[in-house]
Amino acid sequence: MLIGCGRISGAHLAALSGLENEIRLVATVDSDTAAAERAAAPFAALALTDVAQALALPQVDAVLIASPNALHGPQSLAALQAGKHVLVEKPLAESGMEARALATEAERRGLVLAAGHTYRHNAAVATLIDRMPEWGPLRAVEVSSCVFWDGPQAPWWAERTAEEGLILSLFAPHSLDFVQLVMGQDDPLRVQVEAARWQMGWQGEDEAMILLGYPGRRMASVHISYNQRRVFDRKVLHFAHGVAEIVDGEILKWNGEVLVAPPAGVLIEPTAMGGRKLGHFFAQQLREFAAAVRREPHRCPTGKDAARLIDLIDRVKAAARATSADAVDPPLGG
Ligand SMILES: NC(=O)c1ccc[n+]([C@@H]2O[C@H](COP(=O)([O-])OP(=O)(O)OC[C@H]3O[C@@H](n4cnc5c(N)ncnc54)[C@H](O)[C@@H]3O)[C@@H](O)[C@H]2O)c1
Repeated sequence: MLIGCGRISGAHLAALSGLENEIRLVATVDSDTAAAERAAAPFAALALTDVAQALALPQVDAVLIASPNALHGPQSLAALQAGKHVLVEKPLAESGMEARALATEAERRGLVLAAGHTYRHNAAVATLIDRMPEWGPLRAVEVSSCVFWDGPQAPWWAERTAEEGLILSLFAPHSLDFVQLVMGQDDPLRVQVEAARWQMGWQGEDEAMILLGYPGRRMASVHISYNQRRVFDRKVLHFAHGVAEIVDGEILKWNGEVLVAPPAGVLIEPTAMGGRKLGHFFAQQLREFAAAVRREPHRCPTGKDAARLIDLIDRVKAAARATSADAVDPPLGG
């Protein structure tokens, strides 16, 4: 069942084709009837507006939640309490405390609670993770993920307060999930952040630099932006034996040699918004989630591990407010 039939739901629904043997869409739910009906029609699924009514459907085993961020926590909790496995779009919840409560609920009920960190589900990231033990100790990671959004892409982006955060809530989860993935079980000892707002259409920060100090003198930097018209997406990892890079989310290089490249037609114009095909990420994510539900090996962040990321985002937001409130709050142009 799908809850939230807006912008990103199209990518999830498209990913279902080809997975008919594993996943059948039973129902769609949206507070907007027309949106629920549009999403349901190609699958001959039920279209509903009431989450509680939908969660009572006995034929539903699992729920994909793609509603606005503030609903992730409450809707995930309701789904778990109804005995359903949950895949929830990032961020898992709005606070670490809420995320940890969800993880506890899932564990108590023996259900899968997975967070939708879409960008870990491709060959470049999977190969990096599998190969990195050969490359010696990791010292440092640099992530740059800079895109351009000309104002809010959904009304709720504009409604988020500076306190609730914009890019630190909506986009940082992708980059920080990658950092957490390569850093393993350790959480950072120190978190430093600069954040700024360049655009007027929203209240929260739209550009940030995050510096993380990990145990063992390892470190990570993350630069995220909604203000870069020339899309820039690069991850650089410094190991004892050399440098690994993931360029445009798809090309994995080890000391300059290309280890993984995407099939033709995926990187159409990677420096333009919409210039990359992303469908395979969403399809692989659904496959991994189905494997998690079947208790098979998978690469989804789940339970307490997924909640750990939200604790980190809490720390990042607090650091941003402490250092950069004057760069976010005041109206620009004065
Ligand atoms: N993984 C990714 O790369 C990625 C990309 C974009 C968005 N997202 C995430 O997906 C989520 C949705 O983003 P979006 O851009 O599609 O937003 P959106 O506003 O376009 O879609 C949200 C949908 O939820 C519906 N909705 C609102 N309140 C509801 C309720 N109470 N019950 C049921 N439905 C309700 C809205 O009517 C809307 O159709 C966000 O959490 C966002 O962070 C993830």
